[in-house]
This record gives sequence, C-alpha cells and structure tokens, in this order.
Amino acid sequence: MPEFVLTTRTTTYAMAVDDAGLLRTVHWGGRIDDVSDLIPLPMWDLSTNDMYADIAAEEYPVHGRFRYKEQCLAVTFADGTREMRPVVTGSTELDDDDGRHLVLHLEDSEFGVTIDLHYVALHDLDLIERWAVIGNTGPEPFTIEAAASAQFHVPFQDLTFRNMHGMWAAELQEFSQQVSYGKIVVESRKGVSNHNHNPSFILDDGADETSGQVWFGALKYPGNFKAVVEQSQYGGTAVQIGINDYDFALRLVPGQSLRTPAVVAGYSDSGLGTMSHRMHAYGRDLMRPALRDVLYNSWEATSFDVTTANQTRLAQLAQRIGAELFVVDDGWFGRRGAEADGLGDWWVNRDKFPDGLTPLIDEVQQLGMRFGIWVEPEMVNPRADLYRDHPDWIHRDPVREPDTARDQYVLNLALPAVQEFVVEMLDDLLSTNDISYVKWDANRPMSQVGVDRSVWLAHARALIDVVARIKDRHPDVMIEACASGGGRIDLGTLSVFDDFWTSDNTDALDRLTIQRSYSLLYPIKAMRAWVTDSPNFLTQRSIPLKFRFHSAMMGTLGIGADLSHFSDEDLETSTQLVAQYKDVRETIQNGDFHRLSNPSPNDYRLFQYSRPEQSVLFAFLPSSRIGRRGTRARLRGLDPDARYRFYANWAWQQKSGAWLMHHGIDLWLMGDYASEIITVDRIGQP
Ligand code: GLA
Repeated sequence: MPEFVLTTRTTTYAMAVDDAGLLRTVHWGGRIDDVSDLIPLPMWDLSTNDMYADIAAEEYPVHGRFRYKEQCLAVTFADGTREMRPVVTGSTELDDDDGRHLVLHLEDSEFGVTIDLHYVALHDLDLIERWAVIGNTGPEPFTIEAAASAQFHVPFQDLTFRNMHGMWAAELQEFSQQVSYGKIVVESRKGVSNHNHNPSFILDDGADETSGQVWFGALKYPGNFKAVVEQSQYGGTAVQIGINDYDFALRLVPGQSLRTPAVVAGYSDSGLGTMSHRMHAYGRDLMRPALRDVLYNSWEATSFDVTTANQTRLAQLAQRIGAELFVVDDGWFGRRGAEADGLGDWWVNRDKFPDGLTPLIDEVQQLGMRFGIWVEPEMVNPRADLYRDHPDWIHRDPVREPDTARDQYVLNLALPAVQEFVVEMLDDLLSTNDISYVKWDANRPMSQVGVDRSVWLAHARALIDVVARIKDRHPDVMIEACASGGGRIDLGTLSVFDDFWTSDNTDALDRLTIQRSYSLLYPIKAMRAWVTDSPNFLTQRSIPLKFRFHSAMMGTLGIGADLSHFSDEDLETSTQLVAQYKDVRETIQNGDFHRLSNPSPNDYRLFQYSRPEQSVLFAFLPSSRIGRRGTRARLRGLDPDARYRFYANWAWQQKSGAWLMHHGIDLWLMGDYASEIITVDRIGQP
C-alpha cells in the first residue's frame, strides 16, 4: 500500500493507494512528521445504494463505475465507451527548484489513457501546487469532456465557503455561505475569469482573521473555470476546481496530452490572515520584483479624446505631483473617436497625434517619467480595416450573424494567424516607440465560439502564450491586465502580467470593499488603484481628496483624475500624498497585509501592512455615526520585544510591539470620509 506524503513548513498532504486500488486522500491539514501513521482507513460498501467508490475521498475521481459524486475526468472513447478504469502504476520524483515535485502515474491500459497527477510541495511558502496531465497512448483519438485540475477533501462538514461575486464596476464582492448537503458551484462561462466569481475556493471551520482552520486554493487560469463544493452524505467535504466543463470538449489524438492549469492550495490553522500572507507571497513570487511605479492614466480625464496637446498638459501636471509613469488610455489609434471604431487598426491616429507618438513620449521622458499605452489586442470593431481584411478571424458561428458588445467582436486568439498578428503588432508598437508599460484590455466576453468546444481553453492558453512571447522580446515592458475593469484577476493572468486593473469603479469608498475582498488571495503589489475626480463619474459620490488618496494608496497608487481642474491646493495635497506613498510603498507592496478588527460600533475600516522594520496603519471612517465613538487599532505581526516609533493623537510616541499588538492605538476620526495613515517604524535593526 504505497503512501505519498508532501510536507510543507506547517502542513502535511498525504495520499495512499488503498486495498481496492483507489488513490485516496489520507490527510490535508496540520503537519504530521511520523508518516507511518498516514494510512487510509479501511472502507467498504455501506449498502448496494452507497457504494465504496462513491464514498471514498479520491484524489482524481474519473467517470465510471459506482461514482455519482463530482468527477475530475470524463472522456468518450472512439468506440463510444465512457467508463475509465485507471490504476496507479508508479510514481516519479522530479527535480524542481520550487520544492519536492511528485508525479503519480495512473493508467487505463485497455484504452490507452494516462493520468499523471503532479504535486509540488512549496515548503517555505507553505503551499502545494497540483495539476494533471491526461495523455493518449492508445491507437485512437478520444474526446475529453471534463478535466478538472484537482479534487481536495476536507474531513469536516458544515463548513463556510467564501468567494467573490460581482459584475462590471462591482467586482470582487466577498460573500460566504454555509456548506450543507448538495453542491455550491462558482464559475465563469465568459472566456475571462473573474467578473462574476473568482477562480478560487476558501473553506473554513469557523475561522476569523487570526484563528481557525482554513482550506483554500486558487486556479492559475485566466479563462472559464468551475469550482464545485460538495458536502458528501458520507462525511467530509470535497472541493474540485479546474477548467469549466461547460461547452467544453477536447479531442486528443494518439500521442497528445492535455496539461490542466495548476491549482495552488494550502491549509492554515491560524485563520484567513495566514492564508492571505501565503497567497500574497506566492503571487509576488510570480511577479517581477521591482516596486511598481506611481502612474497617471488619462482615461477618466480625457476619455477617447486624447491629443498631443491635452496629454502633454496632463503629463506636466502628473509630473508635478510626483507620478513616475504616464499612461495614455484608449483613443490614440485607428479611426477611434468612440467605441465603434479603431480596434484592430493599431496605427497612430494622425488627427490626434499629427507627428506620431514620439513628441508626447519625448515630453513625458523629459519630464522624467516613463511612458505607457492602452491596447485591446483581442478585439476588433466591425468597421475596422482589420475586420474588412479578416472577417474569419473572430469567434463566430459558421452561419449566424455574430453579436457585437461595445460595438466589437472578439478575435479568435486560438488561430495562429491571430497570434502572429497580435505579437507582431505589439512588437512593432514597442520597437518603434519607447514604451515601458502596456495596459492590455478586453472589454467584452467571448460568445458564439462556433463548432470547436476546445476554443475557450485555446483562447485562454494563447493569451498567456502571446503575452509571454511579447515579454520575451521586450523584457523591460510591464503589462497590466484589464478586462473591462477587473475581469481577469487570477493567478494564471498574474503568471505573465505585472499589474491588475482592479475595477472601473474608482469610487474610493466602494474600492475599500473591492480591495478588501481582493486581498484575501491576491497580492497587493498587483492591485492598481487610482485617485479620480469627485463626484465620481460612476457613483456620483463626492469624497474628499485625502480619503480618495488614502484608499488608492492601499494598492499600487495611480492617479486618474483630470488634474487640469485641480486647484493649487489640491495639487499641493496630491504632491504630499504621492511623496508619502513613495516613502512607505515598499511596505505596502511587499509587506504582509492584515485586515484588522474594529472594536468600535462606528464603521471604521482598519488595515495594516507590515515588514519587520515598518508597519503602516490605514484607518477609514466613511460615515460618523451618532456618538462619534473612537476605535482602537491593535496591530499584528510585530516583534513584541522591539520598540516602535509613530505619530498619533497629536504626538510622537514610542511603544513596544507587545503594547501595539495587545493594547493598540486609540483613534478618533471625526466627520464623514475621515481617514488617516500612521507609519510605525521599528527602532533599531530587526
Ligand atoms: C475599459 C477599462 C477602462 C478604460 C476603458 C477604455 O473599460 O476598464 O479602464 O481603459 O476600457 O475604453
């Protein structure tokens, strides 16, 4: 009975092949060093209606036999057979810089299917990675109808399931619900990952930020995903995650294989905070290490009406307040005057930029800033030259008239010709202009994908591949992932992109909610947040400048306001706040993030970022309730014996880490939209 055990800093993940030949999960939880204890319990059919294969907590259940539970893999063989009977044939240890990499080999030799289950123990990050490779070693093609990345088993019931729901301009709204008998499904069917749910799962056993058990995972995939939580009749809770099997079919010819996206998963016995720290560290490891620039983006200021003159004026003001990167958004190309034109025609619009982009780029660089630009490479307008020349390049049904959304079609990035077009177009743009930053947008969902049901997967894969190729040719260019706001916030996207545009909702109060949910799993360093005008274009809410800045300073700071309407006083305030951000951004972008508790009946929102040498506390009071009650911010993650220095309550203070964590800083914010940032510096070396 071979056992397979993965150990990370504080967790153990163990599997075994049982007497019936099934590969079962034996343990996913706290660390157990004596592996001889990790053997599966004997099990048997409970009745003729409750059969063993349905009860067992399998690592990668396949379709067939007495399995009625969620299954990871379903195929149809050439002769119509659909049942699979894989057995474990062995295991391999691979050399892997990231950690111990174990591959379990399963095979259904009668039909020539191999299933390699990959497990990487990321010891220091305290996480594991899992994916599967399905191979066709037989003489005939077969069709994969479902291929999840993994199934996990939590040995408890009545857990809480947590995810994010949302829509355009209201992405990433955390919700939680009690798991009970039946299933919970979160998914995307739109071709991008994230507008409605997030490709991740969080299950907890009554956890809060600092205590309790949490089992979690996130899929490295920017396309259609599905996560299913199933509380079994037989005890325990299963969670499965992977490519969505909705409208999916993939033909595998002999010799071919499918590698599913990886899922990054972990267990914390110290609540949601620990989960976030580990996932943030994982996310940061995917990213390039440089601290992110303070950027200015012109979208909310000038919309499609970008010209050399108005962008130059904005660039001068952006430089004055301390921006380091100036990004021209939509409108600079083709015949783009509004939404209906230009996408696909990526030549510089000479009415708006008579001498090309160079004069503006020169101006931006002379001001000491880098230059960035917006593109939407997967899209085309029906009126564009590109569409006239290549009507067969879009996702479409063979005979039906394709629908537009925002007046545009989606290019079929699965086609090699489209991939070449996108790579060459961007290569040319980046080679002929000194561009340091690209905002890559995708403003509508995929639809009407035609006869080939593997195209959802192929498009998502091609996206990653194409971006990677562009970055190979232009390694210094940073690329921001935007999909109508925060439509692509997932670890697959983060494996090639450098920034997330979090949401088109730039209302500083709404953003506190979005950013809090984002922070559950995704790194702060990738969370772009802008200071925009008041009242906000979307919510019509008026919020003071300082609160707008403080809200945006919680991520990677950007400014999207029309600075030409700012008073000198507002420009001066902005300058000071940008400078303050730069002083603490290392802690914000690379530190541990803490969602602090608020003991006050007043609606304070308290957040902390910490590195050994510094913590930064953010306090927000959107609306003062009757009684103007204060709150107390008890910090986390400090050295109890160290001394720290900070300015609060109108005085410089020195306190021990123990005092800051156990007693805490009293805060009295007054009025509406009050906010404060307190920097807590350690005295002496960590
Ligand atoms: C999307 C993006 C915005 C902006 C516009 C431009 O909505 O999310 O930030 O770039 O497109 O058309």
